[in-house]
This record gives sequence, C-alpha cells and structure tokens, in this order.
Amino acid sequence: MPSTLTLLSVFLLGTLSTTYFNPFNYLSQDLQDLQPSLQNITIHDFHAGTGDHRKIKINLRPASPYSIPHENFTQWCHAQASIALDKILQNIANDNINDLSQRYNVSQGAVIASPSRSKPNYFYQWTRDAALVMNPLILNLFSSDEKVNGTIASTLLKYLNNSYALQQLDNPSGNGTKYQDLKGLGEPKWEVNSTPFMEHWGRPQNDGPALRALTSFHLLKQLRQHNMTFEDLLNQIEDGQLPFQNEQELFDKFIYYDLKFVMLYWKQDGFDLWEEVNGIHFFTALVQLKALDEALYFLSLHTETTVEQPSLVQSLQRTFDDLLQFMLTQGNFIDPNKNHIVETPNFHERSGLDIAVILASLYSHNTDNNSTLPFDVTDSGVLNTLYGLMRSMGMIYPINHQRANLKIGVALGRYPEDIYDGIGLSEGNPWFLATSSAAELLYKLIWNLQSNRKDLIIPLNDFNSQFWTIVFDGIAHEELQLHQSHPHDDIQLILPYDSPAFKQTLKLIFDLGESFLDKLREHVSKTGDMSEQFNKYTGFLQGATHLTWSYSSFWNCYHLRNKLIELMKY
Ligand SMILES: *[C@@H]1O[C@H](CO)[C@@H](O)[C@H](O)[C@H]1NC(C)=O
Ligand SMILES: *[C@@H]1O[C@H](CO)[C@@H](O)[C@H](O)[C@H]1NC(C)=O
Ligand SMILES: *[C@@H]1O[C@H](CO)[C@@H](O)[C@H](O)[C@H]1NC(C)=O
Ligand SMILES: *[C@@H]1O[C@H](CO)[C@@H](O)[C@H](O)[C@H]1NC(C)=O
Ligand SMILES: *[C@@H]1O[C@H](CO)[C@@H](O)[C@H](O)[C@H]1NC(C)=O
Ligand SMILES: *[C@@H]1O[C@H](CO)[C@@H](O)[C@H](O)[C@H]1NC(C)=O
Ligand SMILES: *[C@@H]1O[C@H](CO)[C@@H](O)[C@H](O)[C@H]1NC(C)=O
Ligand SMILES: *[C@@H]1O[C@H](CO)[C@@H](O)[C@H](O)[C@H]1NC(C)=O
Ligand SMILES: *[C@@H]1O[C@H](CO)[C@@H](O)[C@H](O)[C@H]1NC(C)=O
Repeated sequence: MPSTLTLLSVFLLGTLSTTYFNPFNYLSQDLQDLQPSLQNITIHDFHAGTGDHRKIKINLRPASPYSIPHENFTQWCHAQASIALDKILQNIANDNINDLSQRYNVSQGAVIASPSRSKPNYFYQWTRDAALVMNPLILNLFSSDEKVNGTIASTLLKYLNNSYALQQLDNPSGNGTKYQDLKGLGEPKWEVNSTPFMEHWGRPQNDGPALRALTSFHLLKQLRQHNMTFEDLLNQIEDGQLPFQNEQELFDKFIYYDLKFVMLYWKQDGFDLWEEVNGIHFFTALVQLKALDEALYFLSLHTETTVEQPSLVQSLQRTFDDLLQFMLTQGNFIDPNKNHIVETPNFHERSGLDIAVILASLYSHNTDNNSTLPFDVTDSGVLNTLYGLMRSMGMIYPINHQRANLKIGVALGRYPEDIYDGIGLSEGNPWFLATSSAAELLYKLIWNLQSNRKDLIIPLNDFNSQFWTIVFDGIAHEELQLHQSHPHDDIQLILPYDSPAFKQTLKLIFDLGESFLDKLREHVSKTGDMSEQFNKYTGFLQGATHLTWSYSSFWNCYHLRNKLIELMKY
C-alpha cells in the first residue's frame, strides 16, 4: 500500500481545481442499516470505500503540506531549530555564552525580550517572556547520554537567581516578597539590569508568577525523571552563590511566593498577555490553574516540605477548585453563542477569538501525563478557536490569500482586530509565535489522541465540530447528505482507535501542522532570523528583531514534532 502521504500529496491538484476529485469517497458500512434512530457513522478505512449509491459522503481532505520537497523541509526544520536555540541563548545574559552583561549591563540570567533598542524598544525583561523562554530550554538540560549540559544548566540557574532577585523588588505594581501582600509580583516588565521599570505601563499582569512557577516545576520534574536532585545540579555547576541550596529552599524561598500570588489575586483584574486589556483573561486563568495543579502534585511528593503545612495544601486545593469552577461557569469563557473560547469575556469590542487561547491550552497541558485539566488540545472550543483564526486571518492577511481556500495552514497573528504593527498602531500582522503554536497544537492533538487509545469521536454538528471540516469533507451541515427525517445533530462520526481510518486521520492532522510550519518557513529570513511579526502584504520580517519568544515557540514546537515523528514513525 502506498503511504498516505504519497496519496495525499499526489492529489493536491484536486484541491486546486474547482471540479475537485477526491479518491477517498467513503460510504459508511453502517448506512446499509440506517435506521431513523441510528446515531453513529463508523469508518474503519477511508481507502476501502466502494459503491456510491448512498448519499452520505465523508472523505478525508487531502492535504499537501509542503511547497518544497519533503526532504528539504525536514532539513530546514533541523537547521532552523538549531538557529533558534542559538538565538535563544544569545538573548539570556550569561558570561559563559555572550557579552550581554559586559556590553549592556544586563543582569546574569535576565532574558531580554529582543535585542531591539529602538523602534520598538524591547530591550527589557518581561516576567512572562522569560518564563516561557526558559521552560522549553529545560528539555535540553540532559544530553542523550544522560549528562547534564553545563551551558543550559548554568543558564537555568542564573535565571532562577535573577528571578529570585526580581521577586523581592518593590516596584510600581506594589511591594516585593518582604511584604505580605506580594502585589509587586504582578509587575510584568523590568529594566535589563534588574531594577524596576518605572514608566507608565499596563500593570499588573497576573500570569507572570504562574508561568514562572510552571518553569520551576518543569525543571524539578525533569531532574526527577533523570534521578537527580536540585542539589546534585547545583553541585555540578559552580557559577557563584545562589540563594537556594536544595529543592526545599527553592520552594520555600521562591516558588512559594509565586503560588501565594496566584492564590491572592486570581480573581482580580489585570492586563492580558498582550498588555492591552485590563480584565479577567482565559490565558491568565488557565496558566494559573495549571500552576496550582502542578503545585499540588509537587507537594504530594514532598509531604515533608515546607512552609505552612498542611494548610498550604488545603488552600492550594481550595483555590484550585474555585478557579476551576470559575473557568467552567461564571468566567464566561464558554459562550453559548460562540463555538470558540472567549479570551476576555467582558471586553465586548472584540470577538474573543485570540491565539492566546491556543497558547494557554499548550502551556497548560503536557505530553507526559494524562491531564484532567479542562481546555486540553482536544477541546472543541480550543480547536474551533484555531478554525476561527484560520478563517479570519486567511482573509485579512493578503500573504495568505493563495492558501486560504485550501484548508491548509496559514500565517496567524494574535487576534483579528489587532492593529499593532510591531512599532506603532496601524494594521496587525501575522506573528511567528502564533503560527508555530498552530502547528504545535495539531502535533499535540495527535499525541493526545494516540496516547489516550480511545476512538476518535466527532459529533457531526456545525457548532461543535467546525474544526473538523478542515480535516474531512462532507461533514458540514449543508454537506451531510442525509434523509431530512434524520436530525443531523445526533449523528457522530466514529473512527475506532488504531483503525486505518484513525491513522489516516492523524496523519492528515500532522500534515496540516506541517503546513503551518511550511508557511512560517517562507517568512524567516535567509539566515533563519525571526522577528516578532512578518508583514501581512510583503511577508518580510517586521517589529522587534530576534524576538526571544518567537525562537522559543518554534523550538518548543520542533521538539514536540521530533517526539511525535518517533512515536508515529512518520
Ligand atoms: C454510538 O456510539 C456510542 C459510543 O460512542 C454508543 O454508546 C452508542 O450506543 C452508539 N449508538 C448506537 C445507536 O449504536
Ligand atoms: C532541496 O535540497 C537539495 C539538496 O540540498 C537542493 O539541491 C535543492 O535545490 C533543494 N530544492 C529546493 C526546492 O530547495
Ligand atoms: C549544550 O547545549 C548547547 C546548546 O544546545 C550546545 O551548543 C552544546 O554543544 C551542548 N554541550 C554539550 C557538552 O553537549
Ligand atoms: C512598599 O515599598 C515602599 C518602598 O520600598 C514603601 O515606602 C512602602 O511602605 C511599602 N508598602 C507597604 C504596604 O509595605
Ligand atoms: C549596572 O546595573 C546596576 C544595577 O544592577 C547599576 O547599579 C549600575 O549602575 C549599572 N552600571 C552601569 C554602568 O550602568
Ligand atoms: C531512575 O531510577 C529508576 C529506578 O532506580 C530507573 O528505573 C530509571 O531507569 C532511572 N532513570 C534514569 C533516567 O536514569
Ligand atoms: C545571583 O544574583 C545576585 C544578585 O541578586 C548576584 O550577586 C550573584 O552573583 C548571582 N549569582 C549568579 C550565580 O549569577
Ligand atoms: C498526572 O495528572 C494527574 C491528574 O491531573 C495527577 O493526579 C498526577 O499527579 C499527574 N502525575 C504527574 C506525574 O504529573
Ligand atoms: C493515558 O491513559 C490511557 C488510558 O486512559 C493509557 O492507555 C495511556 O498510556 C496513558 N498515557 C500516559 C502518558 O500515561
């Protein structure tokens, strides 16, 4: 049997022509005994369809993900990942690697958002960006022979050390950890020499401490998986004095405050991750929920730890329960009139479609655990957010027009109403980190479906399953060629786990992910540079150069892609 890839690629031409021919017409066997009450359409193999006298046609949409030969794409991916990692390390001050400290007085361990010092000036550290950049770097801490990579380790320790110092500083958001109220931990932005940023800004931003805690927990988890303690790590790296000598001190003196901040302020308004809107945000709430979840897991392993026991566990659990309840109900992130999640429900000037929703889902769901947290990558609201963004940005960004009707990846930006051009306000553009996060979402979706070993079940109604119209032909309401007497809303498509149809569908989702990266590939510079954005008309780099978060999003996505290729043998 030829591989699905070959077949799918061969039929790209079909998608381009209007009299479009699809080889995978499938008539469900089940239809032979279609009864008025029958609700399931089970497909075992999209290639096995014969006979077409029945009216229901559900096909896998062929996708041709690459605009260059596959081998070249693969080569590019590896090369780009290595460039990305190098650029990330260039943007984190560490005397062993770069001269940021000597030249610009950047504190050791500070992550600069971008080296751009004017138009725009991003030469600052942001709590959020730093945590999000350091988090995937942890995946590189151990080399394949289980040895600690000294460069990565020293960078991580310096980051923790610097973050500890920032936590203590009084600043325009409030006071640091020496005072009870901890309001200063909501400060989003700092000078590169780790003094407070005193100018007017959108503050506080309440996602920072949660993201930082997630990075700390990730490091501790990674060490544990390699049978190493934090103390072992410190002993291997001699880079100067640190405020914590072991895991318990790291928790008591540092992580604890970030958790405490989440417990104190999750209900309070703050600015969103784009630093524009004050309110309660899906992104912020979900990463906070994840931080509480990880904290409870960590403390379950460390009953001897630490401050305030056992009441700390109780208050973490209570906050977790309250926040979870809030996210599912009063938070209004789920709007009965919208099939996607709403990023900031009380901000009515926008639709609520926002790549922040996808970022939140990614940052709060790991691949190494069956999560019970809501809004995982299989959530229809999360997937329909991707659908909505593809639809809208396929239209509003001219560089997408050639692809928009093909139902393959397009360049994505932050949210449709965006007017920030990277320097000032005019027109919004696609962003690298948004485009790579779409690929990452699709890779994670495959990972999740495969590791859950469950049938893929898709309700066939336009509201919940809109995302799946990218994957399948014939499942949109107007396409479902059923007898009128059969109410469409009760029909579900079932692809049994491990069946050919299941695997064919997962491979197609993979190709869809690949097509986002292929689009991104078209817009990095010849030398692999990324900025914050790329121009929606010309496709050229725009906004802050070498945005650290752009590189780390790509790197994180690349890491998952490799894992997935290994698992699925793609
Ligand atoms: C449809 O599939 C579900 C499992 O998803 C099963 O519980 C249900 O009984 C099936 N319905 C019919 C009519 O076969
Ligand atoms: C693909 O890679 C090969 C070998 O590196 C190169 O010769 C060829 O020009 C590349 N093709 C494209 C379209 O980039
Ligand atoms: C450590 O990681 C860096 C960045 O990936 C890499 O350049 C270096 O070769 C690694 N060092 C060792 C000893 O593996
Ligand atoms: C916060 O810090 C400032 C300056 O360090 C100090 O004047 C102020 O009293 C502190 N606020 C509280 C509530 O402790
Ligand atoms: C470097 O930053 C420190 C604060 O971390 C500050 O005290 C010092 O004045 C700065 N040095 C220069 C040369 O700007
Ligand atoms: C860690 O230790 C466990 C139990 O001793 C062992 O099974 C596992 O292989 C070790 N893992 C690593 C990465 O060394
Ligand atoms: C940790 O930070 C302090 C300043 O807060 C600094 O003096 C010390 O050198 C730093 N240690 C390392 C290993 O970077
Ligand atoms: C995995 O997730 C479950 C449910 O969230 C949690 O109870 C468990 O502690 C987690 N395990 C790890 C290793 O993270
Ligand atoms: C997740 O749970 C399923 C069963 O529900 C199990 O088969 C699978 O191995 C689990 N995956 C992980 C990573 O624990």
